[in-house]
Amino acid sequence: MVSPAENDLLTHTGPGTPGGELMRKYWHPVALSEDLPPGSAPLPLRILREDLVLFRDDKGRVGLMDILCPHRCADLSYGRIEDGGLRCLYHGWLFDVNGRCLEQPAEPEDSTYKDEIHHNAYKCIERAGMIFAYLGKDPAPLFPEYEFLNADEEHRFLVKTHLDSNWLQAIEGNIDPSHLSYLHKPMAPVDSRAVPGSDKSADAYYRDDTRPKLEIERTEFGVRNYSIRNAGEKGKYLRVTNFIMPNKAAIVGNEGRVGQGYSLHWHVPVDDEHNLRFDFIFNRVRPIERSRYDKHHETERTPDHRHVRNRSNRYLQDRELMKTSNYTGMGDYFPVHDAFATESMGAIVDRTKEHLGSTDVCIVAARRTLLNGIAAVQAGKDPIHVFREQAQNDCSTIVVVSEVIPAEVDHKEFWKERVQKRA
Ligand code: FES
Ligand SMILES: [Fe+2]
Repeated sequence: MVSPAENDLLTHTGPGTPGGELMRKYWHPVALSEDLPPGSAPLPLRILREDLVLFRDDKGRVGLMDILCPHRCADLSYGRIEDGGLRCLYHGWLFDVNGRCLEQPAEPEDSTYKDEIHHNAYKCIERAGMIFAYLGKDPAPLFPEYEFLNADEEHRFLVKTHLDSNWLQAIEGNIDPSHLSYLHKPMAPVDSRAVPGSDKSADAYYRDDTRPKLEIERTEFGVRNYSIRNAGEKGKYLRVTNFIMPNKAAIVGNEGRVGQGYSLHWHVPVDDEHNLRFDFIFNRVRPIERSRYDKHHETERTPDHRHVRNRSNRYLQDRELMKTSNYTGMGDYFPVHDAFATESMGAIVDRTKEHLGSTDVCIVAARRTLLNGIAAVQAGKDPIHVFREQAQNDCSTIVVVSEVIPAEVDHKEFWKERVQKRA
């Protein structure tokens, strides 16, 4: 049971809030690299309820800083990219990616006033087709060595989506294994690939065993979630997914269904009522079959990274399709189903109204892990999964499994075999 005070702690991430201080201990993606090609206009951006401008200078370096100019507060996102920085249109002050003021052209020629100006700027790193930022206090932690960030372009597919809800209810949709038997259920047979160890697809297991057994395990990165479905004489269909502090989930997805990769969903708070979901879909074995993902993009997504189906049009639900095509009547693009489920709760769900069941163990564990993280930060410590030394920067225990294994195999040990196989 979540109290009103805990719900606030978990959902508010603006500057100075305890949840915001937790978020500011970690790196987060803020844009796709393709949002900011060389020579492009600066991007106004809202992240963790801060209004910022993201820009690429004329040397290709990326900067993220407060959007209002420290002189007299004009909007820097309208500024000029030139002379090694971003120049404000109003009086020509020039800032580099570190927030240093390089020029104040209207001040007297011998003035050193510019050296006193430090505009608030955040560290950025560009990796794997994404721009990441650290919005916390110095020193920044190390950038985590996630497997999916080392996948080259052919082996990854990136998606960014604006969602109209608080970040927490959005991520909770990813650590909720029982909804697969309902929300995403196809009403007609689909041609999907068999999971390793079986001749049946994951969809068939979701359909045939609608009461998965769920177990959790606290880990050094967050929570490892096990869901077990009956696979008859072949044994059990095991899925292992992960909640990764503070706002990520590694789930099976299409690449995980065949044991070659997984999908990582990273829900970055924009403010308390909106979040940005960044998907890293990767396959460590073969290049991504792009058509599998692109096919929905023309019909289901807008050029500005939103869903065509949204709350304002009731997700274009079609009650005839509910009989013949898919459970929701909202088409067969899974992210729309998830958006419906989590956005329809309202901008910030009131968790005191919930009646949690046995299927919510993963969600309860993730909330507890977040509250522990907030308590650690309040006590002046680092929360879990913040790396300060390279020797600790190890994400190799984040493993996703979707396999049928013999009934007698200990499912809580099985993921270790997959770590060895990967190595
Ligand atoms: S307001 Fe930006 S230079 Fe004056
Ligand atoms: Fe889902």
